[in-house]
Amino acid sequence: MREELLALIPEFDLIQDAGLREKTLQVWEAALARSGWTLAALAEMPFTLLINPCPASYIEHVRAVTLTALRAAEVFDEIYGDRVPLNVDYLLAGGLLHDIGKLLEYERGEDGLTVQSRHGQFLRHPFSGAALAAEFGLPEEVLHMIAAHAGEGDKMTRTAEATLINKADFMSFETLRDLRLKKQPSAKLG
Ligand SMILES: [Fe+2]
Repeated sequence: MREELLALIPEFDLIQDAGLREKTLQVWEAALARSGWTLAALAEMPFTLLINPCPASYIEHVRAVTLTALRAAEVFDEIYGDRVPLNVDYLLAGGLLHDIGKLLEYERGEDGLTVQSRHGQFLRHPFSGAALAAEFGLPEEVLHMIAAHAGEGDKMTRTAEATLINKADFMSFETLRDLRLKKQPSAKLG
């Protein structure tokens, strides 16, 4: 499982702090074990139920968000330097874990479609993801990134790392969502 996970998501290895990397992997492994999702199924799971058909998998989304945020952090470092201090390890862990709660929020329906689980009706993934990560001792800075990465986080002040994850997430979400809108709008009365 561990090797398969690292092969599918090589960005785990970018986390320099061995303890943080281990905890991040443990949260992933727990989410897989508790949800019943397999890595093969996640590579075919739409990353959101809000875009249908969805052009990217959960694994692709997690990697895209993590790498988008990382590249932005590199630019910030180059241009702003110490004026915007960023913890790149926290940023990577937050990117890799921001949607981990989706393994609990979503499940595979009978027909193979991805659907909302019963759990997901009560707790959206920012809540379930932060709770799961807290169990494994992830630092508060990373819990904050998970909890605040979506609309829920609009009610609080995000850290710089959490802002990068939030924007990287929405860059992917909105770009893929709006591919559809480039088609000619049409409607029928009904
Ligand atoms: Fe999310």
